[in-house]
Amino acid sequence: MKTIHVIGIGVGNPEHVTVQAINALNKVDVFFFMDKGEAKEDLVRLRREICERYIEKKTYRIVEAADPVRDPAIEDYRERVEAWHQQRAVIYEQLILSELQQDQVGAFLVWGDPSLYDSTLRILDQVKARAQVDFAMNIVPGISSMQALAAAHKISLNGLGESVTITTGRRLAARLNPIEGTTLVMLDGQCAFKSRVGEDLEIHWTAYLGMQHEISIAGRLDEVAELIEQVRDECRSKHGWIMDIYVLSNDHASQP
Ligand SMILES: C[S@@+](CC[C@H](N)C(=O)[O-])C[C@H]1O[C@@H](n2cnc3c(N)ncnc32)[C@H](O)[C@@H]1O
Repeated sequence: MKTIHVIGIGVGNPEHVTVQAINALNKVDVFFFMDKGEAKEDLVRLRREICERYIEKKTYRIVEAADPVRDPAIEDYRERVEAWHQQRAVIYEQLILSELQQDQVGAFLVWGDPSLYDSTLRILDQVKARAQVDFAMNIVPGISSMQALAAAHKISLNGLGESVTITTGRRLAARLNPIEGTTLVMLDGQCAFKSRVGEDLEIHWTAYLGMQHEISIAGRLDEVAELIEQVRDECRSKHGWIMDIYVLSNDHASQP
């Protein structure tokens, strides 16, 4: 039977790759690289570098496929993403059907950890449900941006006995989660933290975690929000793309 490895590769530093991931990488015949938007070149380069650095036999193949774009005509967010996932499921199915022979091993290299704001597992479940191709699946966890952020700032994410909420910039701006304990915010292209100025919060922010341009700012949100927005804009213009993540905490919840 065909096998698909879904391998978490960390968030930018090739040294994030675990021993378990290296062992899995060395079993792969075909890597499927999905072309993803603005950060494409840097992210594909890192994936290639990881393969070259950690795979002993250079007999593997890399197949690149274009990721479809979300249809802006579909107004509802959930419907838009579901339609996009269906399109991606068809592409993944074709890749597994046509690029992988029986008994061969394919792999998707997932940014960070596959369990966190990544659709690869959902899409592969859909491919299975379509029942056009059968395959075994193996998941290798990776270091996520959440852990790398905490390490960059030398902080514990949870306050003593408190909870950690993981959310998106969209949900933060829409005030869909109360800020209790620590709130970790990913996928924020709009500086949603600005909507929380005046709430006596602390922020730990980092862009390009694990990479050459890694940059961090921390402090009282009211004092550093404008600076973060300005640095974010400058970095984005300079490098052509940005990935950033931050944690908001009240009552010094980020202290252990
Ligand atoms: C599509 S999600 C993928 C998350 C990934 N699966 C993980 O485990 O971190 C992308 C978001 O993760 C965060 N992120 C991922 N890599 C990052 C990095 N190197 N530096 C800063 N933030 C990062 C950003 O918030 C970005 O918008």
